[in-house]
This record gives sequence, C-alpha cells and structure tokens, in this order.
Amino acid sequence: MKKLYLISTGPGDLACLAPLARLALQQCDDIVGYGLYIDLLNELVNNIQQHDLPLGQEIERARLALDLAAKGKVTGLISSGDIGIYAMATLVFELLDYENKPEWQDIEIEVIPGISALQMLASRVGAPLAHDFCTISLSDLLTPWETIEKRIHAAGQGDFVVSFYNPVSRKRRWQLEKAKQILLDYKPKDTPVMIGRNLSRKTEKIHITTLENLDIEQVDMLTLVMVGNQETRVIKDTQYVYTPRGYRGKQ
Ligand SMILES: C[S@@+](CC[C@H](N)C(=O)[O-])C[C@H]1O[C@@H](n2cnc3c(N)ncnc32)[C@H](O)[C@@H]1O
Repeated sequence: MKKLYLISTGPGDLACLAPLARLALQQCDDIVGYGLYIDLLNELVNNIQQHDLPLGQEIERARLALDLAAKGKVTGLISSGDIGIYAMATLVFELLDYENKPEWQDIEIEVIPGISALQMLASRVGAPLAHDFCTISLSDLLTPWETIEKRIHAAGQGDFVVSFYNPVSRKRRWQLEKAKQILLDYKPKDTPVMIGRNLSRKTEKIHITTLENLDIEQVDMLTLVMVGNQETRVIKDTQYVYTPRGYRGKQ
C-alpha cells in the first residue's frame, strides 16, 4: 500500500507532539521537511531517511513526499504546529487536484493534527480564546494585501479575538503596524495583546501589553501576536488573560 502521512509536529517541545504523530513517525521509512523542524524531532527520527529542503521550496517538498510515497516508501511530510494551518497539507491536496499524476492516485493520505501556535500561546497566558476568534496571516507573499486588510477590518468590526500569524518577516515589517492602526479604529487602546515568541521552545518569550503599546520591534517571524476582544481582561495581580463567555451576567 502507498502511504503518505501529513504529520503536524506541534509548536516545538516534543511533549506537545500528539501520540498519533509519534505513531505515524514510527511507521515512516522517509520524512520530508524543513531542517529546523526535523531537528526538533531529535531521536524520534534517527532511523528515518531524512529529506531536508530549505525554506522557499515548499512545492518541491510536497512533490517529493508524493513521489516517495508513490515509490512505496511510507513517507511523512512534516510541518510545525498543525500541518493544516498555514502549512504544507494544502499543497499536497493542491498538487493532487491540479497535477494528479497516475502514480499518485492510489496513495492513501492521512493527516495527523497538532497543536497550533495560537493554542500554545492561549494556554500559556490563560483563556483568551474562550469566545469567537479568528486568525489572519499578515504575509502578502501569496495573498494580496487588499484582501488581508479587508479581513482585518472585518475582524475589527466583528470584535473577534485576532491571532496574527506571520506578523513580520526579514523583508516585511510595515504590515503589523498597519494592522494595529486598523484595529485601533474598532477596539479600545487598552485591549490586551499577547505576544508569544518561540512558543514551547527553549527560548520561549511571552509578553502581555496593550494594543496602543504594541511595539513592532518586539516581534519577529517566530512570533504569534494575539489581540483580545472588547471583553478580554488581564487579571492584574496574576497577569492571566481571559475572555469571558458571559457566565457572570447570568448569575
Ligand atoms: C507558516 S506559519 C505556520 C503555522 C503552523 N502551522 C501552526 O499551526 O502553528 C508560521 C507562523 O506561525 C507562528 N508560529 C509557529 N510556530 C510558532 C511558535 N512555536 N512560536 C510562536 N509563533 C509560532 C508564527 O507567527 C510564524 O510566523
């Protein structure tokens, strides 16, 4: 049987790797991924043939994974966080959809879910995602900025808790400042903002601030930025952050 696992490796710490992902890795002859994320798997991948393709070669990674599986190698394509969230799973299905080679047709694909950065950050600070929320990627590499800006306005109008993935990159820094200015049209200046860098990795850093004081210089490409809704509160003495669901008004 031809088998391709699309494996989510979680935010970093192996303790956050789902048992299903461990089981899938144990089945693999080959894994394909980006070196940094393969390295985070440490001893779990020692006996597996590793194919490390650099950032920017996402299409090549997905194609290689399909080709290896087509040749009968049990293959794992890995991605950090959840492989279905701004990650590699969609590319595999897109290749199947548009380029469906005959040898790919009978590959059985199994998607293994994982903890995404937003769940990790939420768990570190308290319960900020307890009510309606959305995620927006600020990367305009594949999505036109006009579309992203429209979604930020919609998130502001709807008063969602918003998590910004890909908030900046080395070459791309103005988008987060623009997103902040748009949200300030809808949300109070003191809306809590949670900044999580390198979540669940050795150099993890969490910072809680307000929308007005969100400093773009504190953010890099390994950071998730989460902006509360109008109800989100920081418990001042403990620095926990939570978004109420409305129980208090029902008492
Ligand atoms: C291409 S997206 C991949 C998202 C990933 N699939 C997930 O579910 O978390 C990369 C962005 O995810 C966020 N991210 C992923 N892992 C993170 C971590 N351990 N700490 C902080 N942010 C992270 C950052 O915003 C980063 O720019």
